[in-house]
Formats: sequence, C-alpha cells, structure tokens
Amino acid sequence: MPARTEDIELRLLLEAINEKYQYDFRGYSIASIKRRLALAKERFGCRSFSMLQDKVLHEPATLPELLDLLTVRVSEMFRDPSYFRTLRERVIPHLKTYPSLKVWVAGCGAGEELYSLAILFREEGLERRTMFYGTDINTAALKKAEAGVYELDRIASFTRNYRRSGSRSSLSNYYTAAYGAAVFDKTLRSRAVFSDHSLVSDSVFAEAHLVSCRNVLIYFDRELQDRAIGLFKDSLVRKGFLGLGAKESLRLSRYIGGFTEFAGEERIYQKRGER
Ligand SMILES: C[S@@+](CC[C@H](N)C(=O)[O-])C[C@H]1O[C@@H](n2cnc3c(N)ncnc32)[C@H](O)[C@@H]1O
Repeated sequence: MPARTEDIELRLLLEAINEKYQYDFRGYSIASIKRRLALAKERFGCRSFSMLQDKVLHEPATLPELLDLLTVRVSEMFRDPSYFRTLRERVIPHLKTYPSLKVWVAGCGAGEELYSLAILFREEGLERRTMFYGTDINTAALKKAEAGVYELDRIASFTRNYRRSGSRSSLSNYYTAAYGAAVFDKTLRSRAVFSDHSLVSDSVFAEAHLVSCRNVLIYFDRELQDRAIGLFKDSLVRKGFLGLGAKESLRLSRYIGGFTEFAGEERIYQKRGER
C-alpha cells in the first residue's frame, strides 16, 4: 500500500529538522511526535507538515518554540513520591558506602527532579560527596534549571509530594518566596552541572552511581529506548543504580541481562557486577 501523503510529509519534516538543526526526532514514538507536530502546525498557522517544514527551514527563529512544543516538559518536584521514598530507604544505604558519588539525571527538564535529589541527598548526609549532572536537549528548560526558580502556584503540589516521599524537614526550608516565585536555595545546585546532551546522538556520560531517567523513554520508539538504556548501562559503575520510574521498564530491552531488578514497582535496577 502506498504511504499516506501526511506520513511522507511528516518523515520529510523530521529529516529536515535533523539535517538543518541536528535535533533528531526520527526515532521518537510516532503517535506522540505526530500529536506534537500537529500542535506546532496549529501554532505556526501551517495547513500541512510540508508548510511547517518550509517555515522551519527558512525561519531558524522558529526553532526554540518548535523544540518547546516537541519536548514534553511536564514535571514536578518529588514527582511519584514513592520513587524518592524507595531511593531514600533502599538505595541510599548502598550509596553511603562510596566515598564519592555521581548522579546523572537524564532528561532533567527544568530541574525539578535534580533539585529533589539534591534535597534528598542533603538530608541523608551525602550531598558533599556527590556531583549531580542534569542533561536535556531543551536549552530553555536547562536555563530554568540553572536558575532554580519555580512559580509559587506549583509549590503546593511539590510540598505534598515531598511530604509523601519520607521527607525529614519542611520544603519551605529550601526556598524563599519572592515576587510570585519560589527561589530555591542556590547551595542546592552548588554541586550540580546542567548541560545539553541528547540521548539520541550523544555518547556515554560520567561514571555514574545513580542514573535517574523518568518520563523520557516513553517518548522514544523501542530502538531508541534501547540506545538510551545502553548508554545508561555503559555510564554506570558496577552495581550502580538505574531508576526509570513507574512508566518504563527494561522488560523488552536487549540490555535486561545486564541488570538485576532492585525495586520492582519503582523500576529501579542495579547493574550487574560483571562488566
Ligand atoms: C516529561 S519531561 C521529564 C522530566 C523529569 N525527568 C520528570 O520525570 O519529571 C521529559 C524531558 O525529556 C527531555 N528529552 C526529550 N528528548 C530527549 C533526548 N533525546 N535527550 C535528552 N532529553 C530529552 C525533554 O526535553 C523533557 O525535558
């Protein structure tokens, strides 16, 4: 059966974005990328993906807005609190045995997950021996992460999550409210580096003891998911931990044999001892 015109246009649009700007969305799950590009079509007043392609190719200024539409930014601090509770109760005791630690938050968006981990590590006495790396392809989100400033109306849900995560303090100890925003204590990011890194095209990161990558792989097709999981495996030290969060798993991955299941429901895995 011949391909549908819209599907041809979609494929060519993704090729164009990749060739012109080196943002490769070709291996993203087709249903979700189609939905997001339909939004972009509407936003830029284009009737077809071909018109959108023309605009994107000839007007580079559209790129940041397009990227923002293509990358889903939804996040919260201590999102899925049971994940952080499990880290605190079960993973941290292992991490305490290392003299120095590296934590990689892949797909960190505007930093909510990384700040949550920084708070958790501070409360567990691990902050001073830890370096945190937050990576994402959305540079606007990374800037926001560096600033550590969030809208005040998001704080109620952050606080609720924090309480449910087995917190040891009050979230208000970590930020000050100013001009309708919550400004998080900058010492929380004194051991954090945020950088532009793509799970599609970039290579292995640091020698990490914990990789947390939640709500990112769901946007990838199976092959791309496996590329990312391969990167995580190669970036982890032996016995290092990989946290994928409730929506993703290693079940269908070719790398499943390289890990043992550590906390089933939270999809936290531990890299096997051998290389
Ligand atoms: C829904 S957010 C998840 C944020 C956070 N991890 C959480 O669970 O709350 C997905 C993030 O993945 C990022 N992302 C998408 N494609 C990526 C890629 N190829 N490499 C790195 N990050 C990517 C997006 O920019 C976005 O910030």
